[in-house]
Order: sequence, then structure tokens, then C-alpha cells
Amino acid sequence: MEYYAIRGGIPLSGEIDIAGAKNAALPILASAIMTNDTVIVENVPDVSDIRAILSAISSIGGHVEAVDRHTYKINGSPIKDEPVTDELVQKIRGSYYLIGALLGKYHHAEVVLPKGCAIGLRPIDQHVKGFRALGADIRIAHGMIIAEAKELTGSHIYLDVVSVGATINIMMAAALAKGNTTIENAAKEPHVVDLANFLNSMGARIRGAGTDVIRIRGVQSLHSTEYSIIPDQIEAGTYMFAAAATRGDVTIRNVIPKHLESLTSKLKEVGCQVEESDDAVRVAATRRLSNTHVKTLPYPGFPTDMQPQITVLLGLANGTSIVTESIFESRFKYVDELTRMGAQIKVEGNTAIIDGVDHFTGTRIIAPDLRAGAALVIAALAAEGRSDIHDIRYIERGYEDFPEKLRALGADIRRVDDDDAPGRAVIRRVG
Ligand code: UD1
Repeated sequence: MEYYAIRGGIPLSGEIDIAGAKNAALPILASAIMTNDTVIVENVPDVSDIRAILSAISSIGGHVEAVDRHTYKINGSPIKDEPVTDELVQKIRGSYYLIGALLGKYHHAEVVLPKGCAIGLRPIDQHVKGFRALGADIRIAHGMIIAEAKELTGSHIYLDVVSVGATINIMMAAALAKGNTTIENAAKEPHVVDLANFLNSMGARIRGAGTDVIRIRGVQSLHSTEYSIIPDQIEAGTYMFAAAATRGDVTIRNVIPKHLESLTSKLKEVGCQVEESDDAVRVAATRRLSNTHVKTLPYPGFPTDMQPQITVLLGLANGTSIVTESIFESRFKYVDELTRMGAQIKVEGNTAIIDGVDHFTGTRIIAPDLRAGAALVIAALAAEGRSDIHDIRYIERGYEDFPEKLRALGADIRRVDDDDAPGRAVIRRVG
């Protein structure tokens, strides 16, 4: 198994480019099959979650062609009425976007239930509520979710919780329903807006994405388009926090600074310099940062996907900080690993009380999930000495070329294949 070997203590410096947003690419690629025409999607990040959704589209007969590393041509016309059981797609939460896409187009979807990140119970009741309101019959059998409808008709749906996934899934199915749909208490995340823009470029009629009321006028069919995905706000944020934690100076290019405002304001609050230009942000930290309090909230609040990264940063800040997780339960599992690096953090329910320490020390660490894994890499980059980070398959679900990009900023990080250790090589040859 591969792991990252990191020698910490080097301030990151230089410039890097951010990839396309994984969480926008997942629903965009899924909904590219909602037309019989060929769709071209650009700025697709090369990460394992994306490979999984593309593999699932191919597995049901969809045509997927890589034009280059970040551009795909998708054609959904050969799709057969088959269940989505692809082995890779079971591992990703975003697989449920195929339900909205297939239900919208074929009025029938059978998709293996998602597993996704290990960050606590993640129900899909709001997705189900939305599909039912559009007239679909939904049942779960043999680990599959089965959605069927004679006809989809527009409806008025009030989400009980602000859910990115439910907003997106309902929007997809409603795009091809008969009549008008209104989603109230909708998620406002940039990837919700990106999907709406993508669907509109295919002929959908969606208004209000980015506010909490989205109105969809169903159309009969969608057509071809060429579309470029927005930059990944969480990848950008991760590098911003890595720059701050290592007391570095990094310019992060190909971003939409507006999407990063909650992060920028926290970084300024704790004493970083942040400069914004049209499509870049520069983060510099020259001294020990100060404490603050943070609560995760739906967009435009502080994102839950940046909660582990800010906890790491505050673990090194001066004074006591409080981080409250209000979106997911069990999202502090990584704190045990951080404690082994010298952090002083006490978790009580959904709150972490952090007494900042002067430095962390490197050790062997296990990444428990995608974002926590990235946060532990930040901790290792800032720590004294060497850290080995295992289970990097989680991290590589969402970060393109993570070690390469960090090395370009001066970090000492290598991707090591355990199997290449001298003893293993001998065993392999003998075996
Ligand atoms: C998406 C992102 C994930 C991010 C999260 C919140 C993708 C693939 N993943 O996940 O990275 O952390 O948004 O920004 O885009 N909930 C319900 N019932 C539902 C759906 C959700 O109770 O039917 C709850 C969840 O348990 C959670 C909250 O609503 O407490 C928000 O979840 P949601 O926004 O749906 O997250 P995801 O779309 O799964």
C-alpha cells in the first residue's frame, strides 16, 4: 500500500493552480447523460472519485471519451436500462447523482447505495422526499435504491435540512419533469450553481440557484453543450491553510475569490495576510497565528469540508480556540491522530476545544477520510521531523497531484509504495 512520507518544517512558498471542483464535476458528469447528444466537459479534476463516476457511466453503456487529462466527451444515448452496480461507484457518495439523472431521463433508476466518507450517518431521506414529490416510487432492495415513475410532474418541495446532494438530485430530475418545480430551503453552494448553469447550457430552465429558492420549469429534452467546471474551493482552501500552517507564502491561482470568502476572513482574523486578485489569492503568514472560534455552516458559511484543516491550523495558534461542527456527526475522528502529533484538543460532542501548542512532532498517521487526511498532511508539513501518512487512497479521492503540487511549493513529501521496500521486493520475487 502507498503512503506519503513527509519531512515537515519547511514553509511553503510559490504558486500553484487549482483543479476543477470535484463536487461540481460529479453531478455535471452524471447529468451529461441526460441528453442523447454528445456533451463536452472541461476542467474535470483527475481524482479517483471522478474516475469512479465515469466508470459507472461506462458500465451502463454510456460512451465516455477522454479528450485529454481534464476534458471528457460523454454520450448517454447508448445507455441501457441496467442497474448501476459498478464496484468503484459503490465507494463514492456522489454515485447517488446517477439516480436523479437516470430518473429524469428514463423514469427509472437502479443504483447501488452509496458508502462515501466515514464521517457519520449520512441519510438520503431528503433526496427520496424530493423524488416522491415529483411522482416517483422509491424503494430500497438488495442494497440498491430503485426509483421509478410513469411520469415526473413538477412540485413544491421544502427541504427539512439544507442538503447539497438533495438540492442537486431534485434539480436534475425536475429539469425533465412536466411543469414547474420549486425547491425551498435549497443549498446555495457554488457547485449547486455550477450544475444549474451546466443544465441551463443544455436547455434546462432553472432560476434562482445560489439562493434558497430554486425554480425549475421542466423541458422535454436537453441538448449538447460544452462546459468548463468551476475551480475547487476546497482544494484551494486546503492550500491556503497549508500556507498559513507552515508560515509560508503561497499564491493560489485559478480560483474564484468570492467562493473563498469565509476562509479568507478567518485567515485574516488569525493574523495571516491575504491578498485577492481576479482569479488568485495569496496567503502569507510570518508569525504565530492567534486563536479564534469557528462553526461550520452551509454556504456561504464556513464549509464543513474545511473543518479538519482549520482545526489543524488552530492547533498551532496562540490561545484556546473552539471549532463547532454543525453539519456532520463524527467529523472529529482525526483528532486522535493529531493528538499523537502533540496537539492538545478535547472533543465534546460536536465541539473541539483546542489549546494551541507551539509545534507538532511527526509520527505514523492514518488518514480516516478525505478532508481529514488532507488536514493531517498539513499537520505533517508543519511538524518537526518525519511523518508517514497511510490510507492515502482517501486523500486521492479528491486531490489531484497532491504530493507533486506540494513539492512544487518546496515541501519534502514523497509517495512511497510499501511494496517497494527492500524486504517486500525479495518476498515478491520468491513468491
Ligand atoms: C456534499 C459534499 C460534501 C460536503 C457536504 C456539505 C459532494 C459529493 N459532497 O455532501 O463534500 O461535506 O455536501 O457541504 O458534493 N442530510 C439529511 N438527509 C438527506 C441529505 C442530507 O439529513 O437526505 C443531512 C446530512 O446528514 C448532513 C446535512 O444534511 O447533516 C448536509 O448534507 P448534504 O449537504 O446533503 O451533504 P452531501 O450532499 O452528502
